[in-house]
Amino acid sequence: MADFTPVPGGGAAHNAVSGSSIDASWPCDAPVMLVMTGCARERALALLRLCDPYEKARGVAALRDAVRDGIARWHPERRFGGVGMAEMAGASDPSNVANAPKAADERDAGIPGRPALPRLVSPRELKHRAVTSVEGRAALLHALAHIEFNAINLALDALWRFEGLPAEYYDDWLQVAAEEAHHFSLLSTHLKTLGDAYDYGCFPAHDGLWEMARRTSGDWLARLALVPRTLEARGLDASPPIKAKLASAGDAAGAAILDIILRDEIGHVAIGNRWYRWGCERAGCDPIETYARLAVQYSAPRLRGPFNLAARRAAGFDDDELAALQASE
Ligand SMILES: [Fe+2]
Repeated sequence: MADFTPVPGGGAAHNAVSGSSIDASWPCDAPVMLVMTGCARERALALLRLCDPYEKARGVAALRDAVRDGIARWHPERRFGGVGMAEMAGASDPSNVANAPKAADERDAGIPGRPALPRLVSPRELKHRAVTSVEGRAALLHALAHIEFNAINLALDALWRFEGLPAEYYDDWLQVAAEEAHHFSLLSTHLKTLGDAYDYGCFPAHDGLWEMARRTSGDWLARLALVPRTLEARGLDASPPIKAKLASAGDAAGAAILDIILRDEIGHVAIGNRWYRWGCERAGCDPIETYARLAVQYSAPRLRGPFNLAARRAAGFDDDELAALQASE
């Protein structure tokens, strides 16, 4: 496990993976001095295990820069106890699912790294508050920041866990991780402007996104089908009404952040669609039938409208997929 031990007497932390220092006072959009060399998938795993959300966010941006500059490289053939292509080919077979939990427990110690707060609770325990109050708006922004923090972890997990894929696959998911880190930074910074009581971790949160990651940790095609193409695609539907709520509460800055998030999330779902189709083609299976089977096999939540069909179309869902989605309501 990566050791990001705080340096005594200073705000910096030492990164034992890269041998570099991180300035803990780094604001969200400042240049990062972190250097990450070597195997980019190994760095992604170290970042996934990192608990501090702000260090994780800036580390992801640094890793994206390091890969872009050729300082860090993908080694698709390396295994870190993740899932190889041979297993991927058979993992969608329902008879293999029974073996997944034990293997996942052994592989996944310390994954994902996350802070002591927010306290994770069942979705039923979360209070609903009207966004007309400052507390209600803070709770909404906190819930969104928590989704983005999970989304950073999900994209990092897609990098280290699944081996033997084309370099473009890893480039795509690192770009997703970097954009999720930016979203987290925007939301958590905006949350703090609502008052001293508000910071990421100040409200409880639920763990639904990561729970699906855990369930699909041994099945690459299911991960693509059910995380980016299902749970993240649901964000495309949810984004416009949330933006409208923030705007109606007079939060123009919050509404503007939602615009950035929706624009980027269309790209993330498109990346999910691209690699899901690539995987289906390679396995010789029909994307729509396979999706329906995986949704049942892994107990995917049932999606309900209204759907943001324009955003879903822009993210690469075709007419047949959109018709199947609407028919399943
Ligand atoms: Fe995001």
